[in-house]
Amino acid sequence: MPESQRTFAIIKPDAVAKQVAGQIIARIEESGLELLAIKRLQLDDRLAQGFYAVHKERPFFGDLVKFMTSGPVIAMVLEGEEAIQRWRDLMGPTNSNEAPAGTLRGDFGTDIERNAVHGSDAPETAKLEISYFFNAGEIQALVEALP
Ligand code: RTP
Ligand code: MG
Repeated sequence: MPESQRTFAIIKPDAVAKQVAGQIIARIEESGLELLAIKRLQLDDRLAQGFYAVHKERPFFGDLVKFMTSGPVIAMVLEGEEAIQRWRDLMGPTNSNEAPAGTLRGDFGTDIERNAVHGSDAPETAKLEISYFFNAGEIQALVEALP
């Protein structure tokens, strides 16, 4: 049987402000991915800079941090077979202007920066990003924690 995988997702400030978080979560549920953990939080500069540290030399880094701290986000852990790729397929391409209708970025994003959602791009980054936002107790099902 194929192994279950976890990925990390964010509903970005633009989508939270547009009140489409519920629609995005509905798409997750319709896709069959399981919503293992969820929290709403306001990123500060340090948290956003750390999260997008791989992009710190890119020209858009300053704007990206400004955008990601512009309002609350919703952070989530998703689980399922091939969860990383499935979530990225649901999101669509980075640039919302090029994202087809039916993808989250096509339906809810605005441009290359304000693109509604984030998703991990590989198993290593998924692990790192999940632990950046959630501790084990917030993710584990109660039954797993039993002796
Ligand atoms: P993400 O990490 O947020 O899931 O997005 P991604 O993999 O599709 O794209 P990535 O290249 O990792 O870029 C991270 C985020 O930076 C913003 N961005 N702005 N102004 C620009 O040219 C530009 N390019 C990227 C987007 O918010 C993108 O999702
Ligand atoms: Mg990325």
